[in-house]
Amino acid sequence: MKFFIDSANIDEIREAAGLGILDGVTTNPSLVAKEGKDFRQLLDEILAIVDGPVSAEVVSTDQEGILREAHELAKIHENIVIKVPLIREGLKAVRSLSDEGIKTNVTLCFSPTQALLAAKAGATYISPFVGRLDDISIDGMELIEQIITIYRNYDYRTQVLVASIRHPLHILQAGLLGADVATIPFKVIDQMFAHPLTDSGLQRFLDDWKKSDARFV
Ligand code: G3P
Repeated sequence: MKFFIDSANIDEIREAAGLGILDGVTTNPSLVAKEGKDFRQLLDEILAIVDGPVSAEVVSTDQEGILREAHELAKIHENIVIKVPLIREGLKAVRSLSDEGIKTNVTLCFSPTQALLAAKAGATYISPFVGRLDDISIDGMELIEQIITIYRNYDYRTQVLVASIRHPLHILQAGLLGADVATIPFKVIDQMFAHPLTDSGLQRFLDDWKKSDARFV
C-alpha cells in the first residue's frame, strides 16, 4: 500500500518525507491556494523533497484548456501526475493524455460508475473522496469496495487512490480492502503513530532500565 501526503505545505511534506514512509504527494487548488505561493515554485519545492508521484491539478474545465495546462505541468518533471476533475471534458483529456503516456489522477470521484468511466479513459489513478461522502451520511469506504471489485472483475490497471481521508480508521479499511494508495493529511499520518500502550510500555521499559544496574554496551 502506498502512502501519499495530501498537502501543499512544505514543512508538512518535509516532515512526512523524513519519516521514511512517504511514496508521493497529492495537491489540489484549495491546498495550493492556502499556501499563498506561486504554483510553479511550490511544485519545484515539493519535487525537490519527494522522489515519487506528485499530483498537480488543472483548473480549466474544457478539454483544450485542460490539455494545455496538463502539457505545461507534465513538462516540469517526470514525477508530475496530472490531476483532472471527473467531468466529461476531463475524461476526454484523460484519454488523450493516457494515449501520450502522461500519467493522470482523476479526482472528485463519488460513484463507482464514475470510477468505471475513469478506468475506461485510461486514468493512472482514481481518487474517490471518502470523507466528503461520510460528511453527507454516505459510507465512503463502501465506494472503495465497489470500485476495487469492479476494477478486479475486468483487470483495470487504474490504481485506487483513497482521498479525503479524515482519520486512521479510513486507512485501516483501505488497507483491508486492498486499495493501492491512501493520500493522507499530515495530521492523520501523525495520529497513526499514536497508541497509549506504546507510550506507557516505553515509559515502563525506560523506568525499569534506569532503576537497574544494567548498562547499554
Ligand atoms: O485532495 C483531494 C482530497 O483528499 C480532499 O480532501 O479533506 O478536502 O475532503 P478533503
